This record gives sequence, structure tokens and C-alpha cells, in this order.
Amino acid sequence: MITRRLLIAASAAGIAASVLAAAPSYAQETVKVGLILPMTGPFASTGRQVEAGARTYMAMHGDTVAGKKIELVVRDDAGTADQTRRIAQELIVNDGVSVLGGFGLTPLALSVAPVITQAKVPAVIMAAATASITEQSDYYTRTSFTLPQAAVPVATWATENDIKRVVTLVTDYGPGIDAETWFTKEFTEKGGEIVEAVRVPLQNPDFAPYLQRVRDADPDAIFVFLPSGVGSLFMKQFADRGLADAGIKLIATGDVTDDDILNEMGKPALGTITGQHYSAAHDSPENNAYVDAYKAAYPDMRPNFMSVGGYDGMHLIYAALEKTSGDTSGDALMEAIKGLSWTSPRGPVSIDPETRDIIQNIYMREVKEVDGELYNVEFATYEAVKDPAKASGE
Ligand code: PHB
Repeated sequence: MITRRLLIAASAAGIAASVLAAAPSYAQETVKVGLILPMTGPFASTGRQVEAGARTYMAMHGDTVAGKKIELVVRDDAGTADQTRRIAQELIVNDGVSVLGGFGLTPLALSVAPVITQAKVPAVIMAAATASITEQSDYYTRTSFTLPQAAVPVATWATENDIKRVVTLVTDYGPGIDAETWFTKEFTEKGGEIVEAVRVPLQNPDFAPYLQRVRDADPDAIFVFLPSGVGSLFMKQFADRGLADAGIKLIATGDVTDDDILNEMGKPALGTITGQHYSAAHDSPENNAYVDAYKAAYPDMRPNFMSVGGYDGMHLIYAALEKTSGDTSGDALMEAIKGLSWTSPRGPVSIDPETRDIIQNIYMREVKEVDGELYNVEFATYEAVKDPAKASGE
């Protein structure tokens, strides 16, 4: 019996088939970029900042490139790797994204390696910073930084500034171990001594007991890596334990004095020396334009280093699409990103054609008060730093 319902279903299938047949030409008009970010949970500030940076790029440069409209699809993985991977699959299979981006923490970035390799879809790492991530798939590229890139200049600077005995304190996972390893390598090769190496858990860290140990060890300085967002708790406990009063200098990667939370830290942060690739106070026409556009759209926020990873990630996608004249195939885009260079709000950058990682300046900065607010004020530059973990073949 041919029912009316069956007839309707058949004609619906016909319509669906004709929509599908028409899909390729429609798909050529819109290029979807899927950002997977922690928008909730303890690392939500990273998600907020990367998204704000990406959207600011589009506000400043439009949403059309090589004749195609760019559509941003933002999804929350709540900082959980199995969700990151599931969302990546959905975005590729159901939403038809041409490029993925975001990735707020190393385990989240790593979780998509098999997915992007199989689907041949490029993934732009805009936040995560363990050096080895980009080696896990040929479809990764990166616009954030690597911890070895930031930690080595801090170690060099320390040995040149009368710091001889150091305790390291890092979060116990990929980027923390990278920071500890590469700081220690450079610092000891140049004659410094590591008195103690402390690792703290990623979840719910309490620094107080570790800081007591650091105080007892009485080093010239403590070198710290903590992921973005965690620095204010550390700074409070550092001050409460009287480490600064005991003459122990705080040196760190810029993740600790993150622009997103620096003002909240208040006076204890003053004088902290860090090395990193981006400060909201970076003095250049490109950064002034970026900070103005960002603040116009997000008046309650200040752009941090995560945001510039989002901004430059979008630039990389736009520039690659321009180079391929709008060809969105993963292999064409990955070929196009190699060797691209541009002037970012952070300064001059390029994509290393060998590693697909970003080459950039690392700036030494000191936390200072400027017009009643705290900023990371740059005072020295290490130019065009490649990820040392790959440059040396280690
Ligand atoms: C990471 O998990 O790779 C990560 C997260 C936050 C940072 C740096 C690295 O500030």
C-alpha cells in the first residue's frame, strides 16, 4: 500500500537529494572555520580570549577572502579532551568545516590528531603550547607559542642578571615540563644552579606548601610556569608567604602575569620579570589598532596572549585561502601556510616551513604601573626565536 506518508517521504527525499546536489556550489561560497575552545570550566578565560581575538580579526578585516564568505562556528569543549575530539568529528562530518582552530590546553589539542590526519583537515593551534603537539599530525600548525620558546630567553636573561641559584615551579603536564626542561638546560649550561624542581597539579593547585619549601631553599629566584588564568592565586600565595620580602625574585613565562588577570593581582605582581611573545602594552601601530578594536567590541576585557593567538590564527587562515585562491583542500592549505610571514600585533612573525610552528620575537618584560593599571612593560627583545625543542632536533 502506497500511503500518503510514503509519498511525502519520497518527495522529501527527492528534495533532499536535489539540495545535496546543489551543495557543492553553495559550499564554495562559504568557508566554515570551527573553533573548539574551553568556554566553560576553569580555563574559560582562554576560550573567551581566543574567540575575542578571532572575532576582532574579522571585525577589522571583513568576512570575505578570495571571494568566499568566512563563517566562524564556535563550540565549547569545557576543557575535556573527549569532548574536543567528538566536537572535531561533528564539525568535520556534519558542519563541513574546512579548518579547525582553538585548542585551549595541550591534551585538548592532542586529542584531535587522529581525526585531522584521517580527514586531512588543518588545525590551527591558537592557545596550547607544548612543543611536541605539532609533530603528532602534518595537519597541525600553530599561532600561539611553545614553552621552550619562552623559557629559554628567561633563562638567558637570568644568567646575565646575577641570578645564580633558582628553584623551578611548574604545572605538572606537557607545557610545564617543557618549561622546566628548557629553562634548566639553558640556565645550567650558562653556569646557573637549579636548587629544587617543584611540580604542582593542573587541577585545583594549592601553592602554599610548595612555597614554604621554596622559601626554605632560599634561592636567588623562583622560575614559574602556570597555565593562563592560574597566576592570580599563585601571586597571592607568593605574597602571603613573604617570598618577595625574603629577597626571592619572581621570574616566569608570561602566562603567569597574563594580561587578562594582571590588574587583579595588584601590588604583589609589581617587578615580576617574564618572557613572552605578547603584551597588551606592546608599542606598535599594529598593536594599537588591535587593542582599540578589541576594546571597542569587548569594553570589559583586555587582550592577552591567548587573544593574539586567535587573531593571528584567523590571519593565517585568510592568508592561506588567498594563496590557494579559495581552494579549501587540506593539503593545499597546509602547503600555503608554510613560510607565510606578516606583522602581528605582537611584532613580526612567520610560519616555519619545516615545523609549521610560529617563529616570533620573545620579549623580556617587567610588571609596572602605567596610568594606574598594571602592564607587562617590554625592555628587551630576543628576535625571531624558533621553537628550540625542534631547532636543536631534540
Ligand atoms: C597548554 O595546555 O598547552 C597551555 C595552556 C595555557 C598556557 C600555556 C600552555 O598558558
